Amino acid sequence: MMLNKKNLKDLYPEALAAEVDKNLKLYLNDYNHIPGRLKEAIGYCVLNGGKRLRPVLCLATAKSIGCSIEQVMPTACAIEFIHTYSLIHDDLPAIDNDDLRRGKPSCHKKFGEDIAILTGDALFAESFNLILKYQNSSPGKKLEVLSEIISAAGASGMVAGQVIDVSSTGKRTTKKNLEYMHLNKTSKLIIAAIRTSAIICNANSDVLKSLSIYGENIGLVFQIIDDILDITSSTGTSGKTQGKDIDNSKNTFPSLWGMDKSRKIAKEKTEKAIESIKDLDIDKKILTDIAKFILIREA
Ligand code: IPE
Ligand code: IPE
Ligand code: MG
Ligand code: MG
Ligand code: MG
Repeated sequence: MMLNKKNLKDLYPEALAAEVDKNLKLYLNDYNHIPGRLKEAIGYCVLNGGKRLRPVLCLATAKSIGCSIEQVMPTACAIEFIHTYSLIHDDLPAIDNDDLRRGKPSCHKKFGEDIAILTGDALFAESFNLILKYQNSSPGKKLEVLSEIISAAGASGMVAGQVIDVSSTGKRTTKKNLEYMHLNKTSKLIIAAIRTSAIICNANSDVLKSLSIYGENIGLVFQIIDDILDITSSTGTSGKTQGKDIDNSKNTFPSLWGMDKSRKIAKEKTEKAIESIKDLDIDKKILTDIAKFILIREA
C-alpha cells in the first residue's frame, strides 16, 4: 500500500462532514429553552470544527450498504454528541489538563470547570434523546442502536479506556495493556458508529462481523496516529497542545514502541482493516479511503 500526503484531500469525504455539521446545527435548535450558559457551552463545543470522523463513518457505512445518509443521521449526530462530551471531560484539569481543543480554549477554559463537567453530562444524556426522538427505525432497532452506543461508551468501553489511561499515567505499562486502553477509549465508539449504521440499514451478520473488524483496526490506528501527532504535529496544525502526552507522562504507542515501530503497526492494522472488508458485497471505496486517510492524516 503506497500512500502519499498529496492524496489526503481526496481520501476524506468532506461533503459528509458538511452534512453532519448542518444537521448538528439543526438539532441544537432543540436547546433554545435551556439555561443560557449551557446553551452557549453546548454550541461552542459541538459546533467547534472537528473532523466529524465518527458520524462520517456512520454515514459512509450507510452509503456503502446502499442506504440513505438521512436514514442514519440522528444516530450519527448522537455519536458526535458522545464524542464531544468525551473531549470536554478528557481536557479537564483532573484528566489531561488541556487548555486547547480544535484550536480554541477548551470548554473549561472558556466556561469554567463546573459548566464543562455539566456540558459533558448534558451531551451524554442528549445523545440518547436524539435517537429516541429522531431515529426513524422500529422500537427494536432503536434499542439495539442504544445498546451498542451505551456499551461502547460506558464502563466496559470508553470510560474503561479512560480509567486505564489516567491510572497508568506516569507508570510503566505493558504493550498489551496499552492496546487494551486504546481499544476501549477510542476504537469502541468508532466501531459503534459503524455497527449502528449497519444495524439500521439491515446489514447481514457477515457484513456486521467484517465491519466490526474494520472498525476495531481503524480505531486503533486512529489513536496510534493521534499519539504520533501529539509529538510531530504543531499546535497550529492539530489545534491541540504539541507534546502534551510527554509532559503528562502518558503511555502512548511512541512511548512504548518507538516512533518507527508505531508507524509500522499503524500501517499493518490499516491493511488488516481494508482486507477485512474486501470480499464484502458492498461499495467499499469510501470506507477504504477513510482507512487510508486515518493513517496519513496530519491533524
Ligand atoms: C480526538 O478525536 C480524541 C481521540 C479519540 C484521539 P478527534 O481527532 O476525532 O477529534 P476532532 O473531533 O476531530 O476534534
Ligand atoms: C482521548 O485520547 C480519548 C477519548 C476518549 C477522549 P487523548 O487524550 O489522546 O485525546 P486528545 O489527544 O486529547 O484529543
Ligand atoms: Mg486523554
Ligand atoms: Mg487528551
Ligand atoms: Mg492524544
